[in-house]
Amino acid sequence: MESLHQDDDKRALRRSLRRQRQALSQHEQRLAAQRLCQQLKTLPEIRRARRISLYLPVNGEIDPMTLLPWLRKRKVEVYLPVLRPFSANALWFVAYHSGTPMVKNRFGIWEPDLRFGAQRRNRLPAWALDTLIVPLVGFDNSANRMGMGGGFYDRSLAFMHRPGPAPTLIGVAHACQQVASLPVEPWDVPLQVVVSDQGYVRRQ
Ligand SMILES: Nc1ncnc2c1ncn2[C@@H]1O[C@H](COP(=O)(O)OP(=O)(O)OP(=O)(O)O)[C@@H](O)[C@H]1O
Ligand SMILES: [Mg+2]
Repeated sequence: MESLHQDDDKRALRRSLRRQRQALSQHEQRLAAQRLCQQLKTLPEIRRARRISLYLPVNGEIDPMTLLPWLRKRKVEVYLPVLRPFSANALWFVAYHSGTPMVKNRFGIWEPDLRFGAQRRNRLPAWALDTLIVPLVGFDNSANRMGMGGGFYDRSLAFMHRPGPAPTLIGVAHACQQVASLPVEPWDVPLQVVVSDQGYVRRQ
């Protein structure tokens, strides 16, 4: 019963945080993206990155793509997530360039088109990146993350629970997505830091 209540609470919290994010105007979104970009550029973890994944925003998510020109100048390799075909709810990462053929996935999110052999061959699992910019619905004062609820990032990053490669995980969000404390599940993969348009919180 206890866990049923928790599920209901989580669902309600997700809904309310998503609603707040979606209520932001285009102008507020643009401003937030610029401020996020300024914050990110000062972060040592980002300045170290050589192979990084970003994401294309949906449903009012903060837009990390404003960082793209700066990353290009620094010759950082930029990747976008794609849904892994024939595999339940996990992600691959494909290099993103100006000419990358894109297609909408089953959630209506644009992603590099895996029907192109070159992209299929050059896909990477998350452990091959050194830095991931991770979207989220909510974050708390200790940098705990609540995602969309599909477990996509958690599944793709499950290797982080074992010794081995450990890319830097940076959550990004609007400041209005912060709450005091979130429930943490055993499968949740912790982020090192969450950056918003108004600052950042680090994992203790
Ligand atoms: N490593 C894993 N292996 C199998 N199932 C997993 C794994 N990680 C998460 N899940 C499943 O995914 C479901 C959703 O997890 P959770 O509520 O943490 O989603 P989320 O973190 O909000 O989603 P996302 O990672 O897509 O942003 C859970 O029911 C959980 O059982
Ligand atoms: Mg999770």
